[in-house]
Amino acid sequence: MCGIVAYIGPKEAYPVILKGLKRLEYRGYDSSGVALLNSGLKVYKKKGKVAELEESLVGKDLHAHAGIGHTRWATHGEPSDRNAHPHISENGKLAMIHNGIIENYTQLKGELVKKGYTFQSDTDTEVLLKFIEDIQLNNECGLEEAVRIALKRVTGAYVIVVIDQDHPDTLIAARKGSPLVIGIGKGEHFLASDASPIIEYTKEVVYINDYELAIIRPDELILKNLGNEKITPYITKLDMELAAIEKGGYDHFMLKEIFEQPHTIFDCLRGRLDANAGTITMAGVQNHIEQLKNASRIIIVACGTSWHAGLVAEYVIEELCRIPVEVEYASEFRYRNPVIHKGDVIIAVSQSGETADTLVAIEKAKEQGATIFGVVNVVGSSISRISHAGAYTHAGPEIGVASTKAFTAQLAVLTMMALKIAQEKGSIDNKRFMYLLNELQAIPEKVPATLQTNEQIRKLADKYKDAKDFLYLGRGYNFPVALEGALKLKEISYIHAEGYPAAEMKHGPIALVDETLPVVFVATKDSYHEKIVSNIQEIKARKGKVIAVITEGDEVISNMADDVIVVPAADELVAPMLSVIPMQLLAYYIGVAKGLDVDKPRNLAKSVTVE
Ligand code: F6R
Repeated sequence: MCGIVAYIGPKEAYPVILKGLKRLEYRGYDSSGVALLNSGLKVYKKKGKVAELEESLVGKDLHAHAGIGHTRWATHGEPSDRNAHPHISENGKLAMIHNGIIENYTQLKGELVKKGYTFQSDTDTEVLLKFIEDIQLNNECGLEEAVRIALKRVTGAYVIVVIDQDHPDTLIAARKGSPLVIGIGKGEHFLASDASPIIEYTKEVVYINDYELAIIRPDELILKNLGNEKITPYITKLDMELAAIEKGGYDHFMLKEIFEQPHTIFDCLRGRLDANAGTITMAGVQNHIEQLKNASRIIIVACGTSWHAGLVAEYVIEELCRIPVEVEYASEFRYRNPVIHKGDVIIAVSQSGETADTLVAIEKAKEQGATIFGVVNVVGSSISRISHAGAYTHAGPEIGVASTKAFTAQLAVLTMMALKIAQEKGSIDNKRFMYLLNELQAIPEKVPATLQTNEQIRKLADKYKDAKDFLYLGRGYNFPVALEGALKLKEISYIHAEGYPAAEMKHGPIALVDETLPVVFVATKDSYHEKIVSNIQEIKARKGKVIAVITEGDEVISNMADDVIVVPAADELVAPMLSVIPMQLLAYYIGVAKGLDVDKPRNLAKSVTVE
C-alpha cells in the first residue's frame, strides 16, 4: 500500500504531485508529504489526509521542477508527522519515498547506529535511505551505484524514489514487489504507483519490473537491472479515460461504483458472451483449455472480497465442470507448504493485481508447476503479468476503498470461465448451457431494477444504523454474498457484523439473537429456498429483526420478514450479481448515516501490497 508520485520536467512539480497524491489516497491516508527541489531540498509532511498537507502548505514557496510525494498506510511506526514520508538522509541532501516493507531493517539500523547515524522516525524507509547514504560515502560512488548496492542487501518489498539536492535533474527509482509506472511526456517524466496520476498528461507508460532500477531525467529514461545492465524500456499505451477516475456528480466513489454496475458487468461480458450464437470467447481460457478442462483440481487464491468471489466460483465450477475446487486465503496458502501437483490450476482473483499475499502465493505455486490463471481488474498489474494466462474483469478503475463493482465483474468472468470449461469438457448439456448463457447475458439489464432499491435502503439504513451488531446469513450461492455483506458493513460503518451459512448459525451464532439484533438474510429464490425459510423462522422465534433480500413475487418471506428488499428473478448461479447490490448499498448508507468517510474507511487501504 502507500501511494507514491514523482515528477521531473518543465511543469511546476507540486501541483502535479498533489493531484496525483489525491488520486492515490485510496492506497493509504495516514499521512502524506512532498520533497521539492528548488535551490535546495524542501520537505513538507503532515499526519492525516492529503487535504491536510495541502492546507498546511498554503502560502509556502513550492516552486520546483522536480519533486516526490507520498501518501502513507502505516506499517512501521504510528501515523504521525515524523513517520510521514519523504524521509531525509543524515546530511540532508537526499530525500526518499518508499512503498513496501524492508524486512531486515532492524539489522541494518543496528549497523548504522553503531556508525553514529541518528533516526528521526520509526520507519524502515529512513533506515534504507541512510544505508544508501552510508554506501555512497564509504564507496565514494554516485547515488545510482549506492542504491544498487543497497538493494542487493535488503530483503522485503519496495518501490523507492530518491532525489538528490546535488543532482536536481535526476530521480532514481527502483522496484521489487510493489508497483511503479513511469509516464513519458515531452521532456518530462511522471512516476506513480498506478496510472491514475499520469493519465491526464500522457498515455505512454512503462511498467517497471521487479529488480529494475530507473534513472529518470526530464528527457531521458534509463532502465537497468541490479547487475547494472541496460534494459530497453517497453512502452505501452494506457487504455483509460480521465472521467473513469473522477466522481461524476456522485457524493462518493463507492456510490458511483455501485451505480456503474449495469455498465461494468456489460463491459465484462461484451465481446465474450454471445447468447444468440451460443458462444463464449475468452482467449486466455481457450489457449489453456487442455490444462483447465483436465485439471485434477482448481485452487482459487485471493483475499477479502475477491476471496468471496472465489467462494461463489467454487460452487459454480464444481456444479458445471465437476472439477474439485478449493478456495484459499492467499495469506495462509503461501505459508503452509501446500501440496501442489503439476496438473493443478491456480486461479488468482484480485481487483488490484498487486495484493502481496496473492502475488507471492501464485509465484510459489508457479515454481511448483501449477498453471496460473489471473482474474484481475487492473491492466498490466503484477498478478496479470506473472500469470500464464488470464481474463481481465474490465470494471474500470475502482477508487472507493470498499470493493463493489470489481466483485460483480469477478463473478461475471468466473461464471463465463466455468461455462466455457464445462462446454469444452462436455460436463454440461447444450440446453442448460444455452439457458445459463441467456441468464448471464440478462444480468446487466436486471441490475438497474436492483439499484432502484436505493431509496428504500437509504431509509432502512437510518432505521438500523445504531445497531451494535449485525448477522448476515445465506445458503448455497448466497452464502458468500452474506460474507460479503458483513465485510462491507464492517469496513464502511465500523459495526461488528458476522456472515454465516444460514444453517450453521444454530451451531453457535444463534446465541447472539435477541430483539436488538438485525439479521440480514440473502434469500433469493433458489434450490435452498424452503430451507432458508425455516432458518428465518428460527430467527423470528427468537425475536431477531429480519431484513431479507428476496426475489420479486416471494410472498412467503415477505410475510415473515420485518423488512424486505426485492430483486429481479435470476438463476441461482448468477443471482449473487444481483443479491450483493443491496448489501453494498446498505453498508454505504449506514456509513453515510453515521457521518463516516465511506471512500476512505479508517485503517484500510485499497491495495494491500504488504503481507
Ligand atoms: C473489501 C476489499 C478488500 C479486497 C482485498 C483484496 O472491500 O476491498 O477485502 O478485496 O484486499 O484486494 P484485491 O482484490 O485487490 O487483491
